[in-house]
Amino acid sequence: GLRKKEVNVLCLGLDNSGKTTIINQLKPANHSNHLGPFSEEWKHVSQTQTQEIVPTIGFNIEKFKNSSLSFTVFDMSGQSRYRNLWEHYYKASHAIIFVIDSGDKLRMVVAKEELEILLNHEDIRCKRVPVLFFANKMDLDSAMSSVKVSQMLSLENIKDKPWHICASNAIKGEGLQEGLEWLQEQIR
Ligand code: GTP
Ligand code: MG
Repeated sequence: GLRKKEVNVLCLGLDNSGKTTIINQLKPANHSNHLGPFSEEWKHVSQTQTQEIVPTIGFNIEKFKNSSLSFTVFDMSGQSRYRNLWEHYYKASHAIIFVIDSGDKLRMVVAKEELEILLNHEDIRCKRVPVLFFANKMDLDSAMSSVKVSQMLSLENIKDKPWHICASNAIKGEGLQEGLEWLQEQIR
């Protein structure tokens, strides 16, 4: 039959922003036919369930498939000592998910710096990769709105790539579907 389109998605953002929690939400829940946030029926290839989410060491690879696409998600660690690993995956990436802790005002400037380094990297600069931002942890009292996060990161300056920002609550899975549908549209 037809080969599925292979799509590499790089999941980036500071430590504790919620990357692994988001990716974990894409996996089907145990013993249920519940559809995850993807619009079509997605199959999580490894079938492993993450019991408890712990800070990522280095990175994790997760694979998802539907009828036409085969997604490989690189869930990178956001800890500063591992951030130098990110760039090794830029060349092979077809899409980027950048996760922000909307309640972490103090480190918003650090997130902005990392985003700028990413967007100015030679392997990303000239590539029209779609970038999906999750303004995550919108459930926190201290959370800034996605509009505010977008302003703090100066997203309006991104002119050469399609981008989109969604408010999300990764624990409840809220806001993820909207973002992932946008990303699928960009890749198709
Ligand atoms: P690293 O792997 O260290 O880079 O972190 P990460 O970005 O993968 O973050 P992770 O998914 O491990 O989540 C960090 C903490 O934030 C965990 O305690 C999560 O339960 C919590 N968390 C994730 N998303 C949300 C959210 O939307 N709201 C709230 N309140 N907590 C969240
Ligand atoms: Mg993680």
